[in-house]
Amino acid sequence: MKFSSVSKKQTFNFAKKFSKQLTGGETLGLIGNLGTGKTIFTKGLAAGLGVKKNITSPTFVLMKIYPVTKHKQIKLLAHLDAYRVKSANDLITIGAKEYFNRPDTVTVIEWADKIKRILPRKTKFITIIYKDNSRIIKF
Ligand SMILES: Nc1ncnc2c1ncn2[C@@H]1O[C@H](COP(=O)(O)OP(=O)(O)OP(=O)(O)O)[C@@H](O)[C@H]1O
Ligand SMILES: [Mg+2]
Repeated sequence: MKFSSVSKKQTFNFAKKFSKQLTGGETLGLIGNLGTGKTIFTKGLAAGLGVKKNITSPTFVLMKIYPVTKHKQIKLLAHLDAYRVKSANDLITIGAKEYFNRPDTVTVIEWADKIKRILPRKTKFITIIYKDNSRIIKF
C-alpha cells in the first residue's frame, strides 16, 4: 500500500487514521531519511490512540513510554529512536525488548532499519521517502 502526503498535516492525519486498525502488540518500524516525517507520523499515531502527552523525539533518551488513555486493549505507546544507537544492544540494555509483543503496547521505532536484528519477526515496516515536495509512505 502506498500513500502520498504533501504536508506535515496530511502525514499526521494519515497516521491518526491508520492507528484505528491497531489492536495492541504491534511493532511498527519506520524507515526513512532525516526529516521525512517519522516523528510526525508517530505524533499522528499517538493522537489517534489517545495519548495525552506531547510526543517529543526520543533521539537522545532512545525510548519514551506514553500512557494511552481510553483504548480498550492498548495501554502504552513505546516510541524508540535508533538514530544514535551504536549497536542494537544499546536498546536491549535499556529494556526495549520488554515492550515488543506486549499485547497492551504499540511500539514505534524510528530508524528501524538500524536495529532490524532485534525486532520481532512480525514487525510491520513503513518506509517514508521524499518525492519532489511530498512524501511517499509505503507499507
Ligand atoms: N509531507 C510531509 N510529511 C511530514 N513532514 C513533512 C512533510 N512535508 C514537510 N514536512 C516537514 O518535514 C519535517 C519532518 O520532521 P520529523 O521530525 O517528523 O522527521 P523525522 O523523519 O522524524 O526526522 P529525524 O530522522 O530527524 O528523526 C517537519 O519539519 C515537517 O514540517
Ligand atoms: Mg524523528
